[in-house]
Amino acid sequence: MRILITGSQGQVGWELVRALAPLGEIIAVDHAHLDLADCAALRRTVAEAGPAVVVNAAAYTAVDRAEAEEGLATQINGAAPGVLAAEASRCGAAFIHYSTDYVFDGTKATPYTEADPVAPINAYGRSKLAGERAVAAVGGSYLILRTSWVYAARGHNFPRTILRLAAERDRLTIVDDQIGAPTWARWIAAATAAILAASRGDPAGYLGERCGIYHLACGGATSWYGFARALLAGAGGEGRLAELAPIPTRAYPTPAARPANSRLDCTRLGATFHVCLPPWETGVRLCFADDSSLPATALRKGVHPDS
Ligand SMILES: NC(=O)c1ccc[n+]([C@@H]2O[C@H](COP(=O)([O-])OP(=O)(O)OC[C@H]3O[C@@H](n4cnc5c(N)ncnc54)[C@H](OP(=O)(O)O)[C@@H]3O)[C@@H](O)[C@H]2O)c1
Repeated sequence: MRILITGSQGQVGWELVRALAPLGEIIAVDHAHLDLADCAALRRTVAEAGPAVVVNAAAYTAVDRAEAEEGLATQINGAAPGVLAAEASRCGAAFIHYSTDYVFDGTKATPYTEADPVAPINAYGRSKLAGERAVAAVGGSYLILRTSWVYAARGHNFPRTILRLAAERDRLTIVDDQIGAPTWARWIAAATAAILAASRGDPAGYLGERCGIYHLACGGATSWYGFARALLAGAGGEGRLAELAPIPTRAYPTPAARPANSRLDCTRLGATFHVCLPPWETGVRLCFADDSSLPATALRKGVHPDS
């Protein structure tokens, strides 16, 4: 089976290239080779690849910057997935896409299910919702996996920022009233691989019978403050690094509003595909254990991560 992966240098895309390799021939394209804003290039790339499945891990993910660039974010997150899905469908290929907890407003008291009404409160969330709708409008064999708080040993993410700042500063204040499940990019890729493996080489047929939106996030939940505490504990003990202090969202204004509740109920994914991600703490621990590129490893050795 031939698998076209976009966004191959991103957190999830990088892991997909590795996790899906045992399933077939990988054609990986990154931003430098395919700009999602170029519709003709999208169609050409899919048609030339002739894949059995297109996995779209490329996205405009700069949540705060999107407030000032909503048009561009909507083009990449809203329009491009529809173009990719349509071309995949035309070629008889399945289409797998990733979306976000930020399609919700975060006012629900319990984890969000796929049946809950969407109501994004920032430009990024609106652009991702537009993408979900564009993909669903094409129909056919598609899967939209909504995930949350993605991190990896590489790329731009909360752990790498916190670990760098913790080495530079005496004290860090971290938001404690937004809750969600930090989700390791490697497990998003592993879950995608498990779903595709179950298709037995016929992703279009398999996903055609199960198409729709599924929530895919690690088990449990924490706040950004709780996440930071776990990271520093994994880095060798908070005492040697910055002191952490919890603050409310209102004390840390950002251009984009964030949902207070980002928790995703993943029951549907488990019931349909028998895939269930472990607790978020396990992901953090394993990510630390085997990724020497994480700044924490340098911190443990007493070396500044940027030195
Ligand atoms: N990160 C999160 O916390 C989070 C949470 C929920 C859902 N998600 C979703 O999960 C998926 C994967 O996210 P991620 O964390 O892996 O994101 P990421 O690390 O930011 O990777 C996104 C990739 O898309 C590429 N890209 C950006 N603009 C592009 C364009 N115009 N054309 C082609 N490629 C472009 C980026 O390349 P450059 O860096 O070169 O621009 C980057 O390699 C996305 O759909 C995202 O919306 C992410």
